[in-house]
Amino acid sequence: MTPSMEKFRAVATALAREAGELQRASLWQPLQIEHKGTIDLVTEVDKASEALLVGGLQQAFPQHDFLAEENVYAGRGASHKWIIDPLDGTTNFAHGFPWFAVSMALEIDGEICLGVVYHPMMNELFCAVKGEGAELNGVRLQVSPRSPLQQSLLATGFPYDSATDKENNFAHFANFQMSCRGIRRAGAAALDLAYVAAGRFDGFWESKLKPWDVAAGELLVREAGGRVSSFDGAAYSVYNHRIVASNGLIHEEMLAVLGRAAPTGVSS
Ligand code: IPD
Ligand code: CA
Ligand code: CA
Repeated sequence: MTPSMEKFRAVATALAREAGELQRASLWQPLQIEHKGTIDLVTEVDKASEALLVGGLQQAFPQHDFLAEENVYAGRGASHKWIIDPLDGTTNFAHGFPWFAVSMALEIDGEICLGVVYHPMMNELFCAVKGEGAELNGVRLQVSPRSPLQQSLLATGFPYDSATDKENNFAHFANFQMSCRGIRRAGAAALDLAYVAAGRFDGFWESKLKPWDVAAGELLVREAGGRVSSFDGAAYSVYNHRIVASNGLIHEEMLAVLGRAAPTGVSS
């Protein structure tokens, strides 16, 4: 690993732990909560975490650009861009359900090269460096060897506007439910992807996600030996809004399910 990448990783992981500790200490405490939309929330802890992460990175790397969920940062046209979800799983956090994470990725010349996902309640730090593999608390990760789809455990999520937009994932959910062992909707896409990388889930799909939800996690999956694509199997970019990530073995079966029509009784 280059010395500069070692520094990026060291700074990012230290900041992720710091923001995660703030989140852990604030859970189950009184919170200031605002509505971004009818359902979509943001808490003071989302904002404070983003300030901590972006502030720390700006201090260490003043030339870099930033794309983060809670604020717009003026671009410098830099080759290095940090893509940050300061608190993935805000609905969980705001309701006191202890399942959320810090997600940070570094894009260099348009390629995701570093991904860090920190799960504060479990003290689990997932980290991937392009070409160097993925690790959990320093131990190498490998996707699961499980197949076929019928015996697989999957994860997904639903967009905040699923009550009003047709792309609501309901038909895909019904189709997968009839084709796999089980589906979990835990509420933090970054952790869903980290869990595919760790072999705890065998596959994940979701639509309408933002770059900060997936940038770190998709690198984790690829570096752990998995496959990531869009719903039609084409190459994936974090600026795509549809993602399928798997252990590779069940990927084609997942794509086939995503290509199916809605089962009878389920609207598309
Ligand atoms: C959300 C979570 C959730 C996914 C949503 C995302 P947020 O991110 O990742 O799992 O289903 O679509 O927006 O709002 O908690 O950062
Ligand atoms: Ca998110
Ligand atoms: Ca968030």
